[in-house]
Amino acid sequence: MKNSSLPSIKTFGTGGTIASKGATSATTAGYSVGLTVDDLIEAVPSLTNKANLDFLQVSNVGSESLNYTQLIPLYHNISEALASDEYAGAVVTHGTDTMEETAFFLDLTINSEKPICIAGAMRPATATSADGPMNLYQAVSISASEKSLGRGTMITMNDRIASGFWTTKMNANSFDTFIADEQGYLGYFSNDDVGYYYPPVKPNGCQFFDASNLTDASEVPEVIILYSYQGVNPKLIVKAIEDLGAKGIVLAGSGADSWTTTGNIVNEEIFEEYNIPIIHSRRTVDGGVPRDDVPEWAIGSGYLNPQKSRILLQLCLYSGYSIDHISQFFPAFTVVEGW
Ligand code: SIN
Repeated sequence: MKNSSLPSIKTFGTGGTIASKGATSATTAGYSVGLTVDDLIEAVPSLTNKANLDFLQVSNVGSESLNYTQLIPLYHNISEALASDEYAGAVVTHGTDTMEETAFFLDLTINSEKPICIAGAMRPATATSADGPMNLYQAVSISASEKSLGRGTMITMNDRIASGFWTTKMNANSFDTFIADEQGYLGYFSNDDVGYYYPPVKPNGCQFFDASNLTDASEVPEVIILYSYQGVNPKLIVKAIEDLGAKGIVLAGSGADSWTTTGNIVNEEIFEEYNIPIIHSRRTVDGGVPRDDVPEWAIGSGYLNPQKSRILLQLCLYSGYSIDHISQFFPAFTVVEGW
């Protein structure tokens, strides 16, 4: 029975630690997914004071196994729910390992003022002091709040409200792992209340891509990330394109994007031969790639990390944009006016 005085929120389950069970209450590693999204909702009875909840299980796996096969139906289901008058917002329960990628993809593709909150957990549901129930409670509360309108897709965990566009997983183990060091948090959850530090705004560079006709993972062009290290094999880019079919490359360069001298020569040759976009991002955890740091045939990722750069490049390629056009989507902060 719906409570007509409360908003309705649609909750989408995808798996992850939040839906996992371990052998004992002390198990915090080596557990596996074993709960469904309705189990998670049932475990938090106080959610009925916050919203009417409908739910849909989109997948039930660790987030390392997610890809466009699951992301595309997730996108369509959320879009449909938010387009209806029935729902005030959406919540996604998700593994934390690739949560930032799903959040980034949804932030660029969902065309709605209504909030989407993605929440997970760092401890499985069976652990003493599991964080999942509170994170789910807060995500539903945040999505149900009118204060959350116009803020896009957010990662809401651990009392923090973070931008899905900027935030990244910084720590492999600790609770307080979702951080956008340079850009900061959007708001907080405290004593059953939602608060924001800023009025509603979408991040600079968060532009809309129409994915409404996207139905199959095979329609999304392959983009491969190559990681820099001392002595990196300069021919990896050749393999990525010729053997693996990459239509775009993201380099996770050292520092603010550096690549080896030989590698740069091979990359330029490859660019000239195949004319595919090569994005220079960084393997460093934070900071940006200035336009002046990258060769003129390459595109600097600005403040986007490699995994977010890959999704942005895929959406640009899916949209059929030219390399010149693509370069305008990457906030290489020294050249884009207003950045
Ligand atoms: C996953 O990403 O599915 C596993 C790790 C986690 O949820 O914290």
